[in-house]
Amino acid sequence: MKRILVTSALPYANGPLHIGHVAGVYLPADIYVRYQKLRNRDIIHICGTDEHGVLITIKAKQEHTTPQAIVDKYHADIKSSFDNLGIKFDNFSRTSKPIHEKNAQEFFLDLYNKGFITPKTEEQLYCDNCKQFLPERFVEGTCPFCGNDKARGDQCEACGRWLEPTMLKEPKCQICHNTPTLKETNHWFLRLDLLQEKFKTWISSKTDWRENVLALSNNWLKEGLEPRAITRDINWGVPVPLPEARGKVIYVWFEALLGYISATKEWDEKRWADYWLSEDTQLVHFLAKDNIVFHAIVFPCMLMAHGDFILPSEIPANEFMNLEGKKISTSRNWAVWIPEYLKSFDPDPLRYVLTINAPEKGDVDFSWDDFMTKNNNELSDILGNLINRTLGFINKYLNNKIPAPKDYTLEDTELLSQIVITKENVEKYIEGFEFKLALKEVMALAKEGNKYFDYQHPWEHNERTSTVIYISTVLVCNLAALLSPFLPFTSDAINNMLGFKVDSWDNIGNFAVPSDIDIKEVKILFKKLDKAQMEKEKSKLGKALEPETPAVPEKPTISYDDFKKLDIRVGEIKEAVPVAKSEKLLKLKVLVGDKEKQILAGIAKSYSPESLVGKKVIILANLEPRKMMGEISEGMVLAASDANNIVVLTPEKDVPHGSPIS
Ligand code: MF3
Ligand code: ZN
Repeated sequence: MKRILVTSALPYANGPLHIGHVAGVYLPADIYVRYQKLRNRDIIHICGTDEHGVLITIKAKQEHTTPQAIVDKYHADIKSSFDNLGIKFDNFSRTSKPIHEKNAQEFFLDLYNKGFITPKTEEQLYCDNCKQFLPERFVEGTCPFCGNDKARGDQCEACGRWLEPTMLKEPKCQICHNTPTLKETNHWFLRLDLLQEKFKTWISSKTDWRENVLALSNNWLKEGLEPRAITRDINWGVPVPLPEARGKVIYVWFEALLGYISATKEWDEKRWADYWLSEDTQLVHFLAKDNIVFHAIVFPCMLMAHGDFILPSEIPANEFMNLEGKKISTSRNWAVWIPEYLKSFDPDPLRYVLTINAPEKGDVDFSWDDFMTKNNNELSDILGNLINRTLGFINKYLNNKIPAPKDYTLEDTELLSQIVITKENVEKYIEGFEFKLALKEVMALAKEGNKYFDYQHPWEHNERTSTVIYISTVLVCNLAALLSPFLPFTSDAINNMLGFKVDSWDNIGNFAVPSDIDIKEVKILFKKLDKAQMEKEKSKLGKALEPETPAVPEKPTISYDDFKKLDIRVGEIKEAVPVAKSEKLLKLKVLVGDKEKQILAGIAKSYSPESLVGKKVIILANLEPRKMMGEISEGMVLAASDANNIVVLTPEKDVPHGSPIS
């Protein structure tokens, strides 16, 4: 194996990220990729936002805006959450890009020309009231397999089946809640039936895959692979590249999966082929269990039908993360949203808790109390403590210099060899996608370090002290390297305190820590959290989200000459009185250099007249005079406004009134 191509399921650009997404998909992928990069493996991590499909159009309807505005907003939002959590990609693309449209259409045509995509006229659910067909999430009903009465037209969340709207019992239109009727329409079908035998042979060689993946694909095989419609009667998506299919788009799952290839092409127009077309590449898909069917069956079948591409080697699919004992629900706001989390906490404690409690073998629960306990008792009391007591000791008692060691005792060499053993175990676990166990190993080593420190009591300042502190520093420095795939911010912070770092993964355990050099500033790595903070977070769960301030659209660009026409100046308010019969307006007398102007300002709801007298404000001085409520206004006071408040602008330092602004 020469190369590794890692993909993370493309998140829908219809909302912010929550902890379930991160725990299930992106964090394990990031740990894996960071680790492999440290080992100098040739590996790339590909992702992007999934921007088409009915889901996006429904969200646009709810927010009274366009699908484009929705995907622009959430693409940016999701990308910044990833950045702030330290989750890195070699390319984070979007399925609304032209490069993807081209790639998806070419792939579609290739399969069409090979006979793996064929047309058929079929009856589909149609809402007479809404005058439209109801694909995917436009319809909900009862799952024919498991009886779940909230099954969607595309999938049953309860049993993981990929459904067709017509399979649902008691279907209901999700726009108007009427019962749909059947109407004939023409669609193009992916001929999974033609690929069944080939697929069966391939999947039967994957005996070491996770149980959840194998169980689902075996179930499907038992039922038999059947042709599935991969075109839709909606207008948001990649157009079907056939003249006779005008007005139809490619089914979002079919093209989103191809987004992995498009995003790799966008990453490097030549080198993409080394990854996708070479048997020397290991293709690893990270995803959560609701995506298994598409990655373990549909995508491999698509790739087999095409013939040029490699097939996935590993699909480390995760189960779900629940929250305070209940299923995460975005519509009920039962979720910990990443942008919200990051307002109050650092990224590494979340990375820690989501990894040590990863949904690898079954569903798990996230609770705020557990988050606090793990932060305080594990990160702070074990890891933070070891690092701080070691470096703090050097700082306080050893003149800030790492001491030179004397002869080693058995305990010293044992602790050193424990570093190497830990490294080997971490390798074994990460390579096997067992991130929880890998991180536990690292924490166990930190615990050993604390025991060693306690037992050797360096604070007695005897002949052992310098050796014990030296060995502890070696441990701290190696822990920084071992932690770096999991807690990259903490790892960097430790390295910064030391002023040096283990130079490669391979040198963990062998790195020569310099002695007699100064360490840098010692800082607390993990803040302790308290109950009140946790209660505050819990109280947000399930509450309706505050309505967002509607985005104010940007205005068209103006020239510098246009700008120069504005005479903006500092003014000083000399007098302020209410305007009769107006709730909003105040009448101001404003000094502007040698002039005095009367200005009416709509700020009465946010400011009392008295509070304004003597204030310096910013005004537009050459606005054409106009009459309001019978009074003349000779300018405008500049103010910022959001949904509830108006805030007048003032100069940051005192300047004379009349001063121009440019
Ligand atoms: N957007 C899908 C989801 O969040 C995942 C798409 S994975 C892809 O469930 F490969 F198809 F893009
Ligand atoms: Zn079901």
